Amino acid sequence: MHHTTRRSLLTFTAFAALALAPACQSGSGFVRPEPRPLPMDIHSHARPNEVRVRHVSLDLDLDFVAGVARGGVTLELYRLEPTAPLVLDVQGLEISAVRGTDGKRRDHVIGKEHDNLGAALTIELEPADSSVRIDYATRPGAEALQWLAPEQTAGGRHPFLFSQGQAVLTRTWIPLQDSPGVRVSYDARITAPEALTVVMSAESKGRDADGAFRFELERPIPPYLIAIGCGELVSEKISKRCAVWAEPELAQRAAWEFADTEKMIQSAEELFGPYRWGRYDLLVLPPAFPYGGMENPLLTFATPTVIAGDRSLVALVAHELAHSWSGNLVTNATWGDFWLNEGFTVYFEKRIMEVVFGEARANMERVLDFADLEEEVARLEEWQTVLAIDLTGRHPDDGFSGVPYEKGALFLRRLEQLVGRRRFDAFLRGWFDGHEFESVRTEDFVAYLREGLPDALKGLDLERWIHAPGIPADAPVPESGALAQVEAELARWRGGAAPESLATDAWVTQQWLHFLQSMPPEVDGFDMALLDEAFGFTKTGNAEILCAWLELSIERDYPGAELRTASFLNEVGRRKFLRPLYAALVKTEAGTQRARTIYAQARPKYHAVSRQTLDAIVLPAD
Ligand code: BES
Ligand code: ZN
Repeated sequence: MHHTTRRSLLTFTAFAALALAPACQSGSGFVRPEPRPLPMDIHSHARPNEVRVRHVSLDLDLDFVAGVARGGVTLELYRLEPTAPLVLDVQGLEISAVRGTDGKRRDHVIGKEHDNLGAALTIELEPADSSVRIDYATRPGAEALQWLAPEQTAGGRHPFLFSQGQAVLTRTWIPLQDSPGVRVSYDARITAPEALTVVMSAESKGRDADGAFRFELERPIPPYLIAIGCGELVSEKISKRCAVWAEPELAQRAAWEFADTEKMIQSAEELFGPYRWGRYDLLVLPPAFPYGGMENPLLTFATPTVIAGDRSLVALVAHELAHSWSGNLVTNATWGDFWLNEGFTVYFEKRIMEVVFGEARANMERVLDFADLEEEVARLEEWQTVLAIDLTGRHPDDGFSGVPYEKGALFLRRLEQLVGRRRFDAFLRGWFDGHEFESVRTEDFVAYLREGLPDALKGLDLERWIHAPGIPADAPVPESGALAQVEAELARWRGGAAPESLATDAWVTQQWLHFLQSMPPEVDGFDMALLDEAFGFTKTGNAEILCAWLELSIERDYPGAELRTASFLNEVGRRKFLRPLYAALVKTEAGTQRARTIYAQARPKYHAVSRQTLDAIVLPAD
């Protein structure tokens, strides 16, 4: 959908008039910023500069038998252009009625579906309408919702549901203006089968007499952060403001794994200012969850594959927590500005890891990330390696790669290097404080940078960092002594030393990952068998190490890992693990056959997001 209309021509008078209205102050004292003109978002049909949604009130029943959510939503509106209709994003929703504030029907039309971006729902408003109520149901295949059978859960007794809104999937379960510039507060009333617990990315307001779960979030968030989980769930306390939700069989292990979360929150606050959201809870999902983590406000969603039993993969928590500032407090206004979410978050994540786990650990993780970035950049098309990515004519997911994450973080590291940590920290804190609860463009950051650190810009080619492809020559290359030791042992092995004689006893996960990441090209299936015998890779319970090992086993033709590969691909739905394994398999004829057999069995268990990516890799092109 590529609008050529003049919809970005703004009526500033409307915004000025609003600004004169009394400021919206609630009982809690939170003052919501006034709506500002928004830039064009090519991935939304909405026209938020004409009529803008300000509050979403959900009222849904979860039907696990049909695999649909059914009920309605009330949207409260800013009427910026008094005669303009309300335009929403919808994808695959069954709309049964639309009503105005007076409860009477309003005319509405659903436009043409646009390549994976849904359609416009246009609603004619009466002058007095300050809200609309839409009765609707989702369709069984709604991409944002994954309905899991009991067999796909740890307990095996009850079904499970979770949502994934980012980037443009919220429109598949809620009709709203699905653009990250349109910030909404929300509340919800959700009913679910008995024995199941509902959690959301909002404050819990307890249960109604009829058992309905109630939620409320007063701070305005982008629609992709509205999230729900439902299953047999219990919570384990970590600190006063932090708990982990999980199935009963996992809850205690999860709480142990994430015990350092409170320390992480405190370190984050010391670095970049107060945590604005009240509670910080985690929800551990079944292994079908397609991402490692998702920063849903007040309730990070996490894959169970980070529960390694030794806290070695908890950087993921630091990452999702950091999004409480970079992403949730200050949000990319369009998906072309995605690096503002992820690059800042990776930078911030590493700073948290330094404080809580020490510089050596953070540096190991930086080196691992850097090596991954170099490898990925070599593989990607040039346009995909630009920070301010041009997504014209493309789906947001086409721009998804390690680039916004790692290149974005390197850019901030470079700035830090140029002005020193003290100044850079104050600068970043000012960015968050000055733009809280706002959605921002790359240009906004550039302007803030020119203003705040003009001297840094003398030492750096800003245009190149933001708009050119590849990794700039002045990118700060991370170093790690602990990983240098790994390279030394690897060299000893290649020089003829037996695997058992290598000094690996004290190695941590990141060192093993580097060992696998640095495997010289001549290492073959025979060598791999010796490594497996010495170190038991195929049997490891650490999903990151396992995935790296399985990928290498496919590439180096080591048959001893084939069964484990098949079982892993059947158990786990995390796209980051699935994509490289299937991609490695389809490089050979025999591997392609294996991939197709496994995929035929596993595909129905994968999330729509993972299926989308994998269909293109595994299914025969026709
Ligand atoms: N917000 C992302 C996940 C995401 C990005 C979902 C784009 C949909 C579209 C989340 O914060 C993230 O980056 N997760 C990473 C983990 C992290 C430790 C790098 C992941 O899922 O692997
Ligand atoms: Zn992230």
